[in-house]
Amino acid sequence: MDSAWCCGSRWISSILVAFVFFHGLSFSQRAPNISHYDYIIIGGGTAGCPLAATLSQNASVLLLERGGSPYRNDNITNLSAFGAALSDLSDSSPSQRFISEDGVINARARVLGGGSCLNAGFYTRAAPSYVSAVGWDGKLANESYRWVEKVVAFEPPMLGWQSAVRDGLMEVGVLPFNGFTYDHMYGTKVGGTIFDTEGHRHTAADLLQNANPNNLTVLLHAVVHKILFRHKGNSRPVAHGVIFRDGAGQKHKAYLKKGPKNEVIISAGALGSPQILMLSGIGPSAHLRVHNITVIVNNPSVGQQMSDNPMNAVFVPSPIPVEVSLIQVVGITRYGTYIEAASGENFSGPRDYGMFSPKIGQLSTVPPKLRTQQAIDQAVESMATLPASAFVGGFILEKIMGPVSRGHLELQTKNPNTNPSVTFNYFKEPEDLQRCVQGMNVIKNVIESRAFSRFKYPYLSAQQLLNMTAAAPVNMLPRHANDSTSMEQFCKDTVMTIWHYHGGCQVGSVVDSDYKVLGVDALRVIDGSTFNYSPGTNPQATVMMLGRYMGVKILQERLGSTDTTN
Ligand SMILES: Cc1cc2nc3c(=O)[nH]c(=O)nc-3n(C[C@H](O)[C@H](O)[C@H](O)COP(=O)(O)OP(=O)(O)OC[C@H]3O[C@@H](n4cnc5c(N)ncnc54)[C@H](O)[C@@H]3O)c2cc1C
Ligand SMILES: *[C@@H]1O[C@H](CO)[C@@H](O)[C@H](O)[C@H]1NC(C)=O
Ligand SMILES: *[C@@H]1O[C@H](CO)[C@@H](O)[C@H](O)[C@H]1NC(C)=O
Ligand SMILES: *[C@@H]1O[C@H](CO)[C@@H](O)[C@H](O)[C@H]1NC(C)=O
Ligand SMILES: *[C@@H]1O[C@H](CO)[C@@H](O)[C@H](O)[C@H]1NC(C)=O
Ligand SMILES: *[C@@H]1O[C@H](CO)[C@@H](O)[C@H](O)[C@H]1NC(C)=O
Ligand SMILES: *[C@@H]1O[C@H](CO)[C@@H](O)[C@H](O)[C@H]1NC(C)=O
Ligand SMILES: *[C@@H]1O[C@H](CO)[C@@H](O)[C@H](O)[C@H]1NC(C)=O
Ligand SMILES: *[C@@H]1O[C@H](CO)[C@@H](O)[C@H](O)[C@H]1NC(C)=O
Ligand SMILES: *[C@@H]1O[C@H](CO)[C@@H](O)[C@H](O)[C@H]1NC(C)=O
Ligand SMILES: *[C@@H]1O[C@H](CO)[C@@H](O)[C@H](O)[C@H]1NC(C)=O
Repeated sequence: MDSAWCCGSRWISSILVAFVFFHGLSFSQRAPNISHYDYIIIGGGTAGCPLAATLSQNASVLLLERGGSPYRNDNITNLSAFGAALSDLSDSSPSQRFISEDGVINARARVLGGGSCLNAGFYTRAAPSYVSAVGWDGKLANESYRWVEKVVAFEPPMLGWQSAVRDGLMEVGVLPFNGFTYDHMYGTKVGGTIFDTEGHRHTAADLLQNANPNNLTVLLHAVVHKILFRHKGNSRPVAHGVIFRDGAGQKHKAYLKKGPKNEVIISAGALGSPQILMLSGIGPSAHLRVHNITVIVNNPSVGQQMSDNPMNAVFVPSPIPVEVSLIQVVGITRYGTYIEAASGENFSGPRDYGMFSPKIGQLSTVPPKLRTQQAIDQAVESMATLPASAFVGGFILEKIMGPVSRGHLELQTKNPNTNPSVTFNYFKEPEDLQRCVQGMNVIKNVIESRAFSRFKYPYLSAQQLLNMTAAAPVNMLPRHANDSTSMEQFCKDTVMTIWHYHGGCQVGSVVDSDYKVLGVDALRVIDGSTFNYSPGTNPQATVMMLGRYMGVKILQERLGSTDTTN
């Protein structure tokens, strides 16, 4: 890690950010105590970066990111290092672990580029039906996807394991085969990836290449504590600035320049955005009063409708080597489940289970509530004693669409660095459980398919794989008080996250259809917290698209034009 990013000062002018991209250099300086911009964006994540890049083309923009730079960090850049950042629990880690009240261990980003710096890279658009249901302009949405794809999306190499799952999905009827495509269609397909052919990650931060460097200021290690409001007479509150602290704890203020179109925009993610709204006085008034927060707008919907799509998976030990890949192939079924092939990280390198490793908090051998730090430590220890051959294999996972089940989020403290408490209520709605069962049945069939047989020990049936409680601390059926082996129980007991959590600032109850926060002026939320359902099979393409899309829309309003071409 470049020392200039890590200590002392934490101010990077946009020109120098451009240097980081092209020369791997960086520079730092102290942030001004007080400064003024047309737009202040809170959160330099998956949505915040494309939004900032776009707005800077015709206005002055401040982008405040609590984390550091993703550049020159192999833990982020290398495909084969997947999980390194997620297992780094230090305060300077680009990921911050959180555990939902459900007991499932989860993670949120803390780095420029946000979740796109931590994720498994799968890149795939939302269905046109999703785009129209949300009310987005389909043409501008497509243009915005293309704008993103020019910089960060690639076609993955298709090697043995991924090809076998692809062929197995087709054999069991997940048809037609749609080839390599970013589009969301029923059947089996090869999706895009943000890893290039060298296995190097490209992130939302790379979209800052498209910024106007003369009108964008990016501040790293800048934690926003609250949004400032002014009241014109007895009219609605108007956002006019923010308070943030730098890495040394020093307080700074940034204000909007005078101008009717200028705005503060929150892009702090599904945990961060409802949290910052509440810390600023917008939320359920009784809850805010408990924390001595002055109520600006009583809105009980802030932090409600939190969802995380449950993920369940089966590890299939293989008699032959399995390539290093994250997710490349997906089966989009008609039952509302998505089947994805993941062969984790380098199985011949460090002995680990990649996306399903206890080191990153995935521990499906015990039900969620029992996933204590002690249980994780035990699993990690027992992994160290296994022979290398125990790690040869791959995972087939399923994620359900939606989901229908909903939860909620509350503040624990007034400190923005502390995670809020969040409950997702996995499988609370029977429809979600039914989708999981159907998805698991497809996975069983794929494992038994002829196309897949090369990658499976012939004496292990799919049911035995589900039943295995033996050595490997991966997704094997936990021993249960009731000794129930129903697929429903399997789904509940082995539930993990695929990190697609969303909600908390939903369109209709917290923001309007232009993403403007209800009850105040000059404030929007633009990121995954506004989603009702997770878009596509995996969300990041649509999160980045939304940042670009809303940037273009906001500039159109600002410049009084309705032309969408650019
Ligand atoms: C491990 C993992 C694997 C995943 N795999 C995939 C995948 O393969 N494909 C896919 O499509 N999706 C995947 N996802 C999901 C996808 O990455 C996320 O849905 C997406 O990144 C969310 O974007 P966002 O803009 O809503 O939030 P984020 O990208 O999290 O951005 C929020 C930003 O705000 C910053 N912030 C928060 N609070 C403050 C504050 N108070 N002050 C200043 N800054 C603040 C955060 O540091 C962060 O950078 C994965 C996610 C993870 C974590
Ligand atoms: C900025 O704030 C710090 C701490 O409050 C103070 O020491 C410093 O003098 C201020 N700088 C300017 C230019 O006002
Ligand atoms: C910015 O403004 C210029 C000139 O008015 C215009 O040509 C361009 O399309 C605008 N950019 C965006 C993204 O709106
Ligand atoms: C920056 O944005 C302002 C609008 O706030 C505009 O007037 C100015 O021309 C822009 N500067 C540059 C260098 O693009
Ligand atoms: C990342 O990849 C580079 C070259 O591709 C290599 O030199 C480096 O050792 C890798 N680091 C990790 C952590 O995998
Ligand atoms: C990479 O991750 C490992 C642990 O997973 C951590 O010890 C190391 O400090 C990280 N390196 C960087 C540059 O963040
Ligand atoms: C957007 O692109 C998709 C294909 O990627 C296409 O099916 C859809 O019709 C397009 N929508 C519009 C409005 O052009
Ligand atoms: C709120 O303020 C009261 C009175 O000043 C104090 O007793 C209480 O501890 C405060 N609560 C919190 C959560 O800060
Ligand atoms: C996997 O790890 C082995 C041993 O450390 C190494 O030789 C090999 O190059 C790695 N493969 C990939 C694709 O990273
Ligand atoms: C799986 O476990 C259940 C309950 O323990 C048992 O009834 C069933 O026979 C097992 N199936 C296989 C294939 O081992
Ligand atoms: C065991 O079964 C009983 C009766 O069906 C049920 O009430 C209980 O919740 C089950 N226990 C678990 C841990 O699922």
